[in-house]
Amino acid sequence: MSSSLLSRLCAASPSRGAGSVRWLHRVYCSAAYQPCVQKKLLFTRRRSDPLRLSGLCKQLCPVGMMHTTSHTVDPLEMKKFQAWSSKWWDEEGVYSPLHAMNEIRVPFIRDILMSKDYSHDVGCPLAGVTLLDVGCGGGILSEPLGRLGATVTGIDPLEDNIKTAELHKSYDPTLEHMIQYRSCSLEDIVDENKQYFDAVVASEVIEHVVDKELFIQNCFHLLKPGGSLIITTINKTKLSYALGIVVAEKIMGLVPEGTHDWEKFISPEELERILESNGYVVETLRGMLYNPLSGSWSWIEDTSINYAIHAVKTVAQKQSTDIGFEREWEKPKAAQAFA
Ligand SMILES: C[S@@+](CC[C@H](N)C(=O)[O-])C[C@H]1O[C@@H](n2cnc3c(N)ncnc32)[C@H](O)[C@@H]1O
Repeated sequence: MSSSLLSRLCAASPSRGAGSVRWLHRVYCSAAYQPCVQKKLLFTRRRSDPLRLSGLCKQLCPVGMMHTTSHTVDPLEMKKFQAWSSKWWDEEGVYSPLHAMNEIRVPFIRDILMSKDYSHDVGCPLAGVTLLDVGCGGGILSEPLGRLGATVTGIDPLEDNIKTAELHKSYDPTLEHMIQYRSCSLEDIVDENKQYFDAVVASEVIEHVVDKELFIQNCFHLLKPGGSLIITTINKTKLSYALGIVVAEKIMGLVPEGTHDWEKFISPEELERILESNGYVVETLRGMLYNPLSGSWSWIEDTSINYAIHAVKTVAQKQSTDIGFEREWEKPKAAQAFA
């Protein structure tokens, strides 16, 4: 990295202190960092601005959530995340497992999207891909995806998460045109952005939402036909209770107590059932394992604790009329559950 660039970035983040050096090192030495961001690629918004939030009420509810017509956002979950909204970029703090997860989830997402029919620039593998990072939090995953060249829209219902994400993005000027953040829920953008995104990523989010089926349906509407939905989450097993809640929260304190509610976890079988009954084809299911001693994640066959799933929106949406029933996405707009 040139010394002038380093000094400019340091000047842009004067309050980071010792953390600056570590952060800068991570940005520029990260495997995810690609030459494309040096070229300061400007993206032109295709078709429509994904964040035209028609009629979005700007009032704030007591926990700093945008007050929306959302049916998937649980105010109790928002209260939990509010307490940690400034902690996203503390790599040794409550979100350290998510930072470590980037080592496997970023290449996973990149490889899925590169296997699709997009035109890839050399050194900029996700150029031209429109990607929605739903439940983006402080932008831990949005940033490396933007550095890979994707045009990222990060949304989160919690305003303070988005403020943290915006602030951190501002430390790296190359991300200015690659990522845009907005505090809102899926319900707020779905009507205005039907079939806009090539990919929707919901990493460690669905275990916090209220109505999982509606969440999946909203993702469906936002995806282009043939687009990819990529989810990482936690299985609902005795083992995930023992390790994810008893060990991780109560014994080792890896994440604060109360972070997860086991009742809201979902098995891959149930998630596959919801996906397939809502017009997706499941292409990949993989188990993930966190080693708290090394602080690292690895892929495993077993899906009984954490897992990742990749589903593709079916292209042929008209088939259902031939077999005599109407699927949710084919109903008239007024009849849709979130209308
Ligand atoms: C565990 S964090 C994951 C953050 C980010 N995806 C990552 O992996 O770095 C869960 C995030 O989901 C957000 N969230 C919770 N319920 C949501 C909902 N119904 N719709 C969208 N985001 C939601 C929370 O505000 C929080 O930022």
